[in-house]
Amino acid sequence: MLVMGIMSGTSMDGVDYAVCRISQKGCKLAHLWKARFPARLRQRLIAAASNRASSYEVAQLHHDLGRFYAQHGTGSKLKAQLAGLHGQTIYHNASRREPATFQIGEPAYLAEKLGITVVSNFRAADIAAGGQGAPLTTMFHVATFGRRGRHVCVNNIGGISNVTSIDLTRAPEADIEAFDTGPGNVLIDLAMRELTQAKLEMDRNGLWAAKGRANEALLANWLQHPFFRRQPPKSTGRELFGEPFFTPAMAQMKRRRLSKYDIVATLTEFAARSIALNYRLHLSIPQQIILTGGGAANPVLAGAIKRDLLKLVPTIRVTTSADHAWPLQAVEPAAFALLAYLRANNQPGNIPSTTGALEPAMLGQVSLP
Ligand SMILES: Nc1ncnc2c1ncn2[C@@H]1O[C@H](COP(=O)(O)OP(=O)(O)O)[C@@H](O)[C@H]1O
Ligand SMILES: [Mg+2]
Repeated sequence: MLVMGIMSGTSMDGVDYAVCRISQKGCKLAHLWKARFPARLRQRLIAAASNRASSYEVAQLHHDLGRFYAQHGTGSKLKAQLAGLHGQTIYHNASRREPATFQIGEPAYLAEKLGITVVSNFRAADIAAGGQGAPLTTMFHVATFGRRGRHVCVNNIGGISNVTSIDLTRAPEADIEAFDTGPGNVLIDLAMRELTQAKLEMDRNGLWAAKGRANEALLANWLQHPFFRRQPPKSTGRELFGEPFFTPAMAQMKRRRLSKYDIVATLTEFAARSIALNYRLHLSIPQQIILTGGGAANPVLAGAIKRDLLKLVPTIRVTTSADHAWPLQAVEPAAFALLAYLRANNQPGNIPSTTGALEPAMLGQVSLP
């Protein structure tokens, strides 16, 4: 069955679309495309995700974004029969007592435009079952990158970084863990925007970080952040590692008169070391790590992660999902195509031990065409 998956993550750079051929045997990528957010839409999304939009503005954005998803959903000649639409997270609160998460982007427009069933709002059912509603890409990581007899980690570096540890060394018994490690690109992107008066949105290919030197004193201090030490299951978002972290961190760096290149180098190093720290504290070290998401295209970030992981285990193999036939931007949308497929087949999409849910849950709500 051809299923479309649509993902726009915490970086808010745009929307990734993947059409996948899915059967009970597995998932293959058939077509991948992307729609960048126009500057104004992006600004409004960032404002909504930073508690700087009124309820009227959020409501308007919910529909404008839904129309944007639909408009660009026609980017493939392949006729998908079903779509999984993640939506744009504007709030994620993984508190134990009163968790909440909110993805906007009205799915009715896509169902209408493509004339197919759209599954969306995947996180709510996991939360209702006692989980954090995240991470949800685990099922796809396991199905696609799990290898009998091997222990592999898949590390997606979006705005936030998340890892899935798939230990099949005692297969068929599977030991699966998945959690957010903290910042991926989010702080780097915020710094680039501020340092270039919004002319640049990212440190493309790590060019700025490569010219700078990281400030060790600040790194040592920031790595004390309690989120890194918190035991999984755990998930986070821009509420913790977006502006609330960035603004004071930027002030500290300016007080120490770091150059613009040193600032980006320090934030890049911070992302890398916080990832390695999470591995050291919360995982047994795998034989292989597969990096994916936009951050894997930043050679300074990917290089620093690799260097730190090699310090933990000198034999660890570090590859990217592209080395395994999955382009960096394909993994996340494909994961939501798979979740839509599971929903359509009345199969659960969460792995309770990784989200904290008390039971497997059927994820997603259905919009019929
Ligand atoms: N060539 C590149 N060099 C450096 N960083 C990149 C590159 N390509 C993508 N990125 C980073 O990846 C981010 C987008 O990654 P993505 O996987 O789409 O994350 P999200 O799921 O949060 O949207 C960009 O905002 C940017 O920071
Ligand atoms: Mg993105």
